[in-house]
Amino acid sequence: MKILVTGGAGFIGSHTLIELYRAGHSAVVVDNLYNSDPEALKRVAEIIRVDEIPFVKADIRDREALEEVFAAHRFDACIHFAGLKAVGESVAKPLEYYENNMNGTFVLLDVMRKHGCKNIIFSSSATVYGDPAIIPITEECPKGHCTNPYGQTKSMLEQVMMDLQKADPEWNVVLLRYFNPIGAHPSGRIGENPNGIPNNLMPYITQVAIGRREKLNVFGNDYPTPDGTGVRDYIHVVDLATAHVAALQAIDRKQGLAIYNIGTGHGYSVLDVVKTFVKVNGVEVPYEIKERRAGDIATCYCDPAKAAKELGWKAQYGLEEMCRDSWNWQKNNPNGYQS
Ligand code: NAD
Ligand code: UFG
Repeated sequence: MKILVTGGAGFIGSHTLIELYRAGHSAVVVDNLYNSDPEALKRVAEIIRVDEIPFVKADIRDREALEEVFAAHRFDACIHFAGLKAVGESVAKPLEYYENNMNGTFVLLDVMRKHGCKNIIFSSSATVYGDPAIIPITEECPKGHCTNPYGQTKSMLEQVMMDLQKADPEWNVVLLRYFNPIGAHPSGRIGENPNGIPNNLMPYITQVAIGRREKLNVFGNDYPTPDGTGVRDYIHVVDLATAHVAALQAIDRKQGLAIYNIGTGHGYSVLDVVKTFVKVNGVEVPYEIKERRAGDIATCYCDPAKAAKELGWKAQYGLEEMCRDSWNWQKNNPNGYQS
C-alpha cells in the first residue's frame, strides 16, 4: 500500500517507516519538523537502503499544502502521528494543543475525504482510560477522565473519527491506544530525541546515565504497587511500529471501526526499569524519591489479547531489550540527531 505518514519524522513515525518498507509498503511523510529533525528520515533511508524517504515539510493545518500532496499521490491509507504530545506543556498551553491536534486532524480528515482516501490509523493513547476502572485494561474498559488537554485531544479525536465512520461506513478507522513506548531501533541510528528536560521516564534515565543530568527523580513511592512506585506497560518502539503494519490488515479487511490496545500486557515499576537498565547496561543511575507527580496514576497495563487475536500482532521484545536499545541510541548520539 502507499501510505501518507503524518508526523513521520518523529520518534514513533520514523521507526514505523522502517517496518512499513520492510513489509513492502511505501510512504510519503508530511511533517512540520516542530518536534523532529530531518536527519531522522535520512537515517531511516540508510537503514532500509533506499535513496530517500519522500518528504514534504508542511503543517497538516495547511489545507493548500495537504491538497498538493494528495494531488500528487494516490494514497491507500494514512497513519496519523502528527500532534503535540507533552502532557505538562499541554496544561500550560491548552489553546496551542487543542488548536494543533484538533484542527490539524480536522483538515487532514476533510482533505482525505475529498480525495477518496477513507482509511486511517490514529495514534491514540492509554491516557484515554484515565485512572482505569479495570486492570489489565481491555478495550471494553470505559474511557476515563483525562487530567490534561493533551489527553483530552486524544479522547475527543477518537470520538470525532468514530462519529465520522458511523456517518459514512466507507471509512475504516483504526484507533491504536499505545501504552508506554520506549527503546530505539537496534541499529542505534534512530531514537527518541526530546527537546529540553525530558518529561518521560526512559529519556530521563538515559540522560542521567550519560551524565547530562545528576539524578533521576522518582515521583512517589507510596502508590499501592509492589514497591510503591508507578507501574506502566512499557513497549519497545519497534514492536509498536510493527503494530501499525499489522493494523493495515484491519483496513484491508474493511473492518470499519477497530480499536486496539498496543502494549505488552506486563506492568513494570519505575524501580524495575531503573534496576533493569543498570543491570543490562552496566551503568549507574542515581535516583532520589520525590513527591508524587500531579495527575499520575498508580498502575496502567493492558490486556493485548484483542490485537493478538484479530491482527496476529504480539510484542516480541522485553524490558531488557528496551533498556539495551534506549542506551545504545543515547550513548551513540549523546546530543540526539545533532551529535
Ligand atoms: P513526536 O513528537 O516525536 O512526533 C510527532 C511528529 O508530529 C513530530 O515530528 C512533529 O514535528 C510532528 N507534528 C506535530 N504537529 C504537526 C503539525 N501540525 N503538522 C505536521 N507535523 C506535525 O511524537 P511521537 O512520540 O512519535 O508520537 C507520535 C504520536 O503518537 C503522537 O500523536 C503522540 O501523541 C502519540 N502517542 C505518543 C506516545 C508516546 O509516549 N511517545 C504515547 C501515546 C500516543
Ligand atoms: N517518572 C518518574 N520520574 C520521571 C519521569 C517519570 O518517576 O522523571 C514515573 C512516573 O511517575 C510514572 C512512570 O515514571 O510512574 C512513567 O512516566 P512517563 O512520564 O514516562 O509516562 P506516563 O505513563 O506518565 O505517560 C506516558 C505519556 C503519555 C501517554 C501515556 C500512555 O507521556 O502521553 O504514557 O501512553 F498518554
